[in-house]
Amino acid sequence: MALPVVTISNIAAHENQEVELRGWLYNKRSSGKLHFLQVRDGTGVIQAVVFKNDVPAEQFAHADHLGQETAIIVRGLVKKDARSPIGFELSVKELEIVSEAKDYPITPKEHGVAYLMEHRHLWLRSARQNVILRVRATVEKAIRDYFDGNGFTLVDAPIFTPAACEGTSTLFTVPYFDLGNAYLTQSGQLYMEAAAAALGKVYCFGPTFRAEKSKTRRHLTEFWMVEPEVAYMTLEEDMILAEGLVSFIVARVLEKHEKELVSVLERDVSKLKNVQAPFPRITYEEAIERLKAAGHPAKFGDDFGGDEETVLANQFDRPVIVHRYPVELKAFYFKRDPDPRLALGMDVLAPEGYGEIIGGGQREDDLETLEKRISEAHLPREAFSWYLDLRRYGTVPHAGFGLGVERTVAWVCGLHHVRETIPFARMMERITP
Ligand code: 4AD
Ligand code: MG
Repeated sequence: MALPVVTISNIAAHENQEVELRGWLYNKRSSGKLHFLQVRDGTGVIQAVVFKNDVPAEQFAHADHLGQETAIIVRGLVKKDARSPIGFELSVKELEIVSEAKDYPITPKEHGVAYLMEHRHLWLRSARQNVILRVRATVEKAIRDYFDGNGFTLVDAPIFTPAACEGTSTLFTVPYFDLGNAYLTQSGQLYMEAAAAALGKVYCFGPTFRAEKSKTRRHLTEFWMVEPEVAYMTLEEDMILAEGLVSFIVARVLEKHEKELVSVLERDVSKLKNVQAPFPRITYEEAIERLKAAGHPAKFGDDFGGDEETVLANQFDRPVIVHRYPVELKAFYFKRDPDPRLALGMDVLAPEGYGEIIGGGQREDDLETLEKRISEAHLPREAFSWYLDLRRYGTVPHAGFGLGVERTVAWVCGLHHVRETIPFARMMERITP
């Protein structure tokens, strides 16, 4: 008789029924007449109890020698069990070995991060990594839902680009047929500006690349960024959009994952519950004053690194928005404030030392000013002629931002390093697996 094939996440719906579970052996212990198999199926872990008298003798004997991560199918009765973390266990009637695994490299003992990153293709199977990847998927879905639900159209940006968006020092170069060199995109923003003039409210969401020579816990060479861009939007409205997105993401993650955040990742979720709009806003110049008052040497013109961001963020109970930075610190495309020393840019800094998760602002919409900025930045004019067309034909004020998925997931999950937030991290010193 074919039993219903079920998942562990849905096991409660099958109490007192016989079911089939397909998965892998996560861990096991035995005592004479009983084997306790921890079986995982990608949706959870269940204890499958194999009693000597319940299964054929050769199956019972075989179960004694199964290696961790052996692929198995177990069939049996779902029983309520108060001691189980999931509330149920499986009383096994039949055990089928699909393929055996011997000497699995990641044992339940502690391994160093370097070793685990080297075995990332297997590390993904661990309970902690399972939760992180699930939270990442929820963050990405929340991002889409937020924009799709607010009248935005998804527009995909190209990955091969002819020029820099965020400065020439962090470009990855790719030979491109007879056309010379192409570059992996640093940001889809310039293309979103074209799309915003066509569709009003747009966003792109995809991988972006930076040849960052920074070996910090916040930098990857390949990361995912969502970039909304809106026609007729100002810096002030951009900040409202940004705080709306961040609080929507956090609320969704808490709604779906609060239990696992606490039990598996040991996250203090009380800090996440504060994350509600409006977020405090301070100008860059106020930020400098606050740094000085906190005994941190700082002066107008200094860029903020991780340390400065942490000092500032620690002064608030939710993310803080810093706006109006010195023009020298910002890319060529920012519009200037009436105070010409300042760019109409803003960053959202996450609490608890996670630093900048969003960067964005209002764009220069005047043709002549933008031409001047491009030549001041020594950027190749030809590559930007299409971009200047956007200022020639019906230019309007517009703004947008980019939110980095990995830094957001690291913050929400409370992880030390962004490398655990992406399935296969790409960093200066890592391209495998
Ligand atoms: O501040 P950034 O460089 O802004 C832009 O690229 C704009 N063109 C976005 C826009 O306005 N459309 O990057 C935006 C965000 C950062 O706040 C950070 O979260 C993330 O992208 N980010 C990185 N994440 C991981 N590794 C890196 N090397 C990152 N660089 C930026
Ligand atoms: Mg930035």
